[in-house]
Amino acid sequence: MSEPRQILVTSALPYANGSIHLGHMLEYIQTDMWVRFQKLRGNQCIYVCADDAHGSAIMLRAEKEGITPEQLIANVQAEHSGDFADFLVDFDNFHSTHSDENRELSGLIYGRLRDAGHIATRSVTQYFDPEKGMFLADRFIKGTCPKCAAEDQYGDNCEKCGATYAPTELKNPKSAISGATPVLRDSQHFFFKLPDFQAMLQQWTRSGALQDAVANKLAEWLDSGLQEWDISRDAPYFGFEIPGEPGKYFYVWLDAPIGYMASFKNLCARRPELDFDAFWNKDSKAELYHFIGKDIVNFHALFWPAMLEGAGLRKPTAVNVHGYLTVNGAKMSKSRGTFIKARTYLDHLQPEYLRYYYAAKLGRGVDDLDLNLEDFVQKVNSDLVGKVVNIASRCAGFIHKGNAGVMVAGDAAPELTEAFLAAAPSIAEAYEGRDFGRAMREIMALADRANAWIADKAPWSLAKQEGKQDEVQAICAQGINLFRQLVIFLKPVLPLLAADAEAFLNVAPLTWNDHQSRLENHQLNPFKALMSRIEPAKVEAMVAASKEDLLAAEAQAPAGNGELAKDPLSAEIEFDTFAAVDLRVALIVKAEAVPGADKLLQLTLDIGDERRNVFSGIKSAYPDPSKLEGRLTMMVANLKPRKMRFGMSEGMVMAAGPGGEEIYLLSPDSGAKPGQRIK
Ligand code: 2FM
Ligand code: ZN
Repeated sequence: MSEPRQILVTSALPYANGSIHLGHMLEYIQTDMWVRFQKLRGNQCIYVCADDAHGSAIMLRAEKEGITPEQLIANVQAEHSGDFADFLVDFDNFHSTHSDENRELSGLIYGRLRDAGHIATRSVTQYFDPEKGMFLADRFIKGTCPKCAAEDQYGDNCEKCGATYAPTELKNPKSAISGATPVLRDSQHFFFKLPDFQAMLQQWTRSGALQDAVANKLAEWLDSGLQEWDISRDAPYFGFEIPGEPGKYFYVWLDAPIGYMASFKNLCARRPELDFDAFWNKDSKAELYHFIGKDIVNFHALFWPAMLEGAGLRKPTAVNVHGYLTVNGAKMSKSRGTFIKARTYLDHLQPEYLRYYYAAKLGRGVDDLDLNLEDFVQKVNSDLVGKVVNIASRCAGFIHKGNAGVMVAGDAAPELTEAFLAAAPSIAEAYEGRDFGRAMREIMALADRANAWIADKAPWSLAKQEGKQDEVQAICAQGINLFRQLVIFLKPVLPLLAADAEAFLNVAPLTWNDHQSRLENHQLNPFKALMSRIEPAKVEAMVAASKEDLLAAEAQAPAGNGELAKDPLSAEIEFDTFAAVDLRVALIVKAEAVPGADKLLQLTLDIGDERRNVFSGIKSAYPDPSKLEGRLTMMVANLKPRKMRFGMSEGMVMAAGPGGEEIYLLSPDSGAKPGQRIK
C-alpha cells in the first residue's frame, strides 16, 4: 500500500457581495466531487474556501444598504454557507478574507516580498471623485465612448463597439458614485515586481501544473513581457492597511489568494493533526490544487505563484481551470429565467440531480458547459432513476419477500463481477484526472450491463415458477452486489444517495476499496425509494421563480435581492427630474400573497381619487400581509405601468433596507391623507 497523500484543495473565493448562482456551483461541485473522491480513496484531503470580503464594491454596497461592511459580509457569509451546505459541498473550512489569519499572512508575505526587493513604489495619476473623496476604479467612471460616441459607457471598455481605452480617454467622464466630474490626481502606489519572476513563470507554467490551453494562453503574456502589478489602493477602501503605510490598502486581489492559506491556518487551529508549515513550506511534500474559472487565470497562474516564490513558500501543484456555464445554449439570462440562483434551484430540485448532470458533462478541459434543461431532466431520469436505482428496486423486494431480507452467498454472474472489478482502475483514473464525464460514462455502461443481465434472467418471471426460489435469490443478491459497487463508484458525486443506500444495505460508510468485496449471507434493511424522477414542472417552476427574482428586485428597489445595480450608487439628478416623480401618500386597502410567486405581495392602494394595483417584492418582510392593511405608505404614482406574469403593476411602494426580513415600508406621520403629494 502506498502512503496516503496529503492534499490541500481550494475553490475560488466568492465575492461577499452577491448570491451564489448555478455558474458558481459548477466550480464548487466540481471541486467537491474531486475532494470526496480523494477522501474515499483514503487520502488526507483538506478542502478550504472563504468569502472574498474586501474591495470598494463591498464598501459601497454596505454604505448603500446603511450597514457596516462587517455586517454585510457576515450576512452574505451566512447565505453562502447555507447554499454550499445544501448543495452538499463539504468544505473542511469556509472562512473569510477579512480575518485575523489573513491580515497576519498578508502582512508576512508582503513584508518578505518588500525585504527581498520585489516591491516598487511610484506615483500614479488617476481619476478622483472630489465629492466622494475617493479614487475611482475604471468601473466607477462612466462617459461617452471615444471611438463610437455611445453614451453611458464604463471607464475601460465600450459595451456598444467593444473598444478598450484608458478612463482618461472617455469623453465627458462622470463618477458613477456621485455623478461628479472626476479630476486627475496623483498618489503613491505600491507595485509587485512581477518581471522578477519571468524565468520562474516560463518554467512553472510548462511544468505540468496547468492544462495546455491555459499554458498556451499565458505564453502570450509571458512572451510579450510581464508588467509590474499595482497592489495598493488609497483610502477609503475596505481591506487591510499596508503595514507601515497609513492610508494605503492592499488591493483585494493581493490578499484574496492569501485567503486560501488563511482559511487553512484557521482550520489548523481546530485540527491539531494538521501542520500548517508542512503544507506551505518551500520543500512541502503535500499537494496543493486550486480550482478556478478561466476568467481569473492570470491571478492564479502568474501573480500567485510569483508571490509564493518571492515569499519563500511552495507553489501550487496544479491550477485546474474550468470553462463558463451556459444555460440552454446561451449566457445565463435574467429575463429568460436562466440566471438561476443556488437557492432558487434548491427551492425546487434536489442537489444531486445537478451534481450528476455537471459530472456527466465535465471534462478535463476549459470548454464551457451547457446546462440544457430538457437534457438535464432526461439524463438524470434515465441514468440515475432508470439505470442505477432501478437495479436495487428490482431486486430488493424479492430478497425481502423470499428470504427475509438476507442476501444469499455465491456469485451468480462471475463475468459481470469481473467486469466491474476490472473497470474500477479506469474509473478512478478518470476521477483523478477530473474527467468526470468519462467516469460517469463508464459507470453507466456498467449499470447498463447489470440491468441487461437482470432483464435477461427475469427474476420476476422465475418467482412465479415452482422450485426457482434459489435462482431468484442468487440473481437478486448479485443485483444488489452490483448496485453496491455502482454506489461506491458514484459516491463522490452522489453522497446522499450513497448514505441512503448504505442505510438500505445495512453497511458502514463505504470506501473505494470496498468495491473489491461483496455482501454474502447479509441482512438488508427495508428498501425505500432512493431517488425520484425530476418532474419537468419543477424545472419550469424554477425558471419562473428566477424571472420572479428579477421582477421582485425591479419592483422593489432598493429592497432588492442582494444584487448590485449597474451603477453602484445613483448619480445626481436635476431638480426637474425629481419634480417629475409623482410621490403620493397611499392607503394599503388590501395586501395578499400572490399564488405562484415566492417573493411578491399584491397591494391594492387608495391614492385619493383612484385605486392602484401594485406588485411588490416585500413578502419576505411581511409574511402575514393582512397586517399591512389599513396602513399608510408612500408610492411612486406615475411609474409607467408594467405587465407582470400576475397582472399589471401600476406604481411602486417605497421601502428601505437590505432585503430579506429587513425591508421597511416608509410611512408618513399620522394625519397624512391618501392621495396627498409628497413635496
Ligand atoms: O473572481 C472572483 O469571484 C474572486 N472573488 C475570486 C478570488 S479567488 C482567490 F484568489 F481568492
Ligand atoms: Zn464605443
